[in-house]
Formats: sequence, structure tokens, C-alpha cells
Amino acid sequence: MSQIEQDYLIKHAKSAELYTRAKECFPSGVTHDIRYLKPFPIFSREAKGGRKWDVDGNEYVDFFMGHGALLLGHSNPNVVQAIQNQAGLATHSGASHELEVEWAELVKQLIPAAEKVRFHSSGTESTLMALRLARGYTGKNKIVKFQSHFHGWHDYMVKGNATLTGVPEGTSDTVIVLPPNDIDIVEKTLKEDKDIAAVILEPTGANFGVLPIFPSFLRDLRESTKRHEVLLIFDEVVTGFRISKGGAQEKYGVTPDMTTLAKILAGGMPGGASTGRADIMDMISHTSDAEWNTKRRIAHQGTFNANPMAAAAGVAALSQIASQPINEKADANAKLLKDGLNDLFARIEVPGCACGVASIVEIKLGIPCVCPHREVCEMPHEGIKGQMGAAFQSKLRLALINAGMDTSRGTLLMVSSAHTKKDIDDTIFAYERAIAALRKEELL
Ligand SMILES: Cc1ncc(COP(=O)(O)O)c(C=O)c1O
Repeated sequence: MSQIEQDYLIKHAKSAELYTRAKECFPSGVTHDIRYLKPFPIFSREAKGGRKWDVDGNEYVDFFMGHGALLLGHSNPNVVQAIQNQAGLATHSGASHELEVEWAELVKQLIPAAEKVRFHSSGTESTLMALRLARGYTGKNKIVKFQSHFHGWHDYMVKGNATLTGVPEGTSDTVIVLPPNDIDIVEKTLKEDKDIAAVILEPTGANFGVLPIFPSFLRDLRESTKRHEVLLIFDEVVTGFRISKGGAQEKYGVTPDMTTLAKILAGGMPGGASTGRADIMDMISHTSDAEWNTKRRIAHQGTFNANPMAAAAGVAALSQIASQPINEKADANAKLLKDGLNDLFARIEVPGCACGVASIVEIKLGIPCVCPHREVCEMPHEGIKGQMGAAFQSKLRLALINAGMDTSRGTLLMVSSAHTKKDIDDTIFAYERAIAALRKEELL
């Protein structure tokens, strides 16, 4: 067994015990694919600000940050207060309520494309509904998505990301997967196939922007989709409220027809939303026309839609984002982190770099990396993807956890406004220690 694994086992005896039980309950012992880690994942106990603690009492600087949901950090005091207040009032009263209106008003205020809103319980549901709305509104069947762009795990959006096991052929046949950043292929596809309802994408690129979309492609897509009367959907589940207060669409000045939201939207509680042009969203509207209601209208239910607990947390989070320099703070933290890591990689002569847009930091290790602006990585996607094998990535995560830092894949850091200078300094030191451990095992 490697030294990294031995250290991990010694530090995480209680997590190991829990994992033995978890394996009897869940496939592979986990409840989300990304949490799968060999020999076992850490089991967390509590979290505050930029830190979290596991069941063995180990402390971590946390950049997993609720899979990107926690722009304000863990246990933001206003969000905690709002959830506590609401829990005492009603967790679910099976009725319309004031907070859902406030929540939607904040979404409309912040997101340029949001004329009307419908709330869901997750990002997966929000893209499911956006696609149905697009098909219903246009009367067309097919959807264009881009290779590796993730839009949740429902049947329509698996193609281009994972195996199609269990997905009906008829469903996946309605989805066309194209390479990103190539407007000529999009243009040709939209010109030749007149059954395309919408184009959907992660506006900063696949996997939280790890495989970047160039902003010029967004502008080209807007023009091309308009020209061919195809709807444009930005999946801003990750980027919404993070890339700027108004998401990627505000930062890059490209307004889509529809936008899907989740994560930051609900302040760390489960929640999602599909939103967009009123004429499209009104496909869900009840009217006085019985023919419309029974033959054309799109039905939408959901026990936990606009759940009061999620609405309370969402309002508390979004109202702070709307009124305070939350994005500026998180972005400044990310810049400190990127600068510190790039200095470290240069000093210890490890090939790689830290880059990323706004408060997302992506680390590439083991390859000479040229991202001159430290924002959008300009390397070909194949170069980025091929850089680190699964075994290296898994060892890197273990080594980082041993050094007191946790983040998705060891390379994707979601920075919050609550991280402190000390959190950032400790993180840079954790990378230094992790890289030394990897070098000892000749992995870097
Ligand atoms: C861009 C994007 N869309 C949709 C989803 C699905 O959201 P959820 O996990 O809330 O279902 C995710 C999840 O990470 C995502 O990154």
C-alpha cells in the first residue's frame, strides 16, 4: 500500500467504519457518483464558513462547497436564521406562500433572461422542464447539446456524458451531440435539420467550465439559433449567480431564451428553477380556453416545488448577493488562490497551472499549461482531458485530504465569499504537501 493510502487510513478510522455500513446500503457506498473515492470517502460531520470537519475530527479547508451551491460559504448566518425561522412556521403548508414570490422576484431581478419562473427541487428537473417547454413551444422534437456538457441525469441528457444503459433509444435519438466551440457544425446542423427545438449548453463549458466555451461561441450561437428559429437554453445551474450576479449571460452579454438554475439559487437547500421568456414559460399557464388547457398546455406538478424551507434559504442567499459585494469577494478570493497556486507551481517546478472564471478555480497538473489570462484555458480540450488519469486524480484527492483540504476531483475549487486569507494560505500549503507526497510515489 502506498504511503498516501496508509496515511489516509490512519486518519480516517471512523469514516472507514461508516463506509463498511454504507456499502450495505448504497451501490458503491455513496449517494452521488462524484463522492465515490477509493479506498473510501470521508464522512463529514459539520461545516462553517470555508471549513468542514469529518467524523474523525479532522478539519479541512473546503472547496467542494456543496457541489458549488454555497457561494456564501457554509452556514451563512442569514441563511441559517431564515431556515430556523421557517422551520418553526411551516416546512410545507401545501399552499402558495409569500416567500416563493419574493424568491422569484429576486431571480427576475438578477437573471437577465428571467421573465417568468417555475421552481423545482433540483437542477436535473429544471433542464427536464426547460427541454419540454422548448419542444412544446416550437412543436419540434430534437435537442442539440454539446459533448461532455452535463445537464443532470435524466434520460434526455445522458448522451454525450455517460453510457446509454437504461435510456430508451427513441429518447436518445432525439438528442444530437455536437463538439463545442465549432459554430460551423452548429450552423450546418440547424440548417439541415428542421426538427430541432433548442440548443442547450453550460455557458462557460463542460464540467463547471473545465472544458471551456469561448465567449465568442456564445455570441455566434445566439445569432445562429435566432436565424434558424431554434431556442437557446443556458444551463446556469452552476454559473447562475456565480459568474456574475446575473450569471454567465450577464457577464458575456448574451441573453438566452431560457435559463435553468439550481445550486446557489436555493442557498444550500434542494431547489431548482426553469425560467425564461414569458411566452415560452406560459406554456404552463392555465387559460380560459378549455381547448388549450386540455390539448396544448404543459402540465407541471411537484410536491416540493418552491418548498418554503428552500424558498427561505434562497431568499436569504439571493438578497445578500443582490445587495452586497458577494461576487466581488468570492472572485477576489479566487484570484488570490490562483496567483498563490501558480506561484507555488513555478517555485517547486511542477508543470501545471490554476485558472478559471470568476470564483471557479481549475487546476491542471502534470502538463505544461498555457492559460495566459488565467481565466479561460485555451488549450485544446483533448489536451485538458488527457492530462491526468483517474488513478492520479484519486491519489491527488487522498493526498490533499491528508493535508487538510477537500475539493471535487482534487482539481476543481468552488470559492466562496466566506473563505479567508488563512483558508487560502492553508490550501496552497496543502497543495505543496500533496505534490511532495505524489512526487515521492513518482506520480508527478
Ligand atoms: C450544469 C449542470 N446542470 C445540471 C445539473 C444537475 O443539477 P442537480 O444535481 O441539482 O440535479 C448539474 C449538477 O451538477 C450541473 O452541473
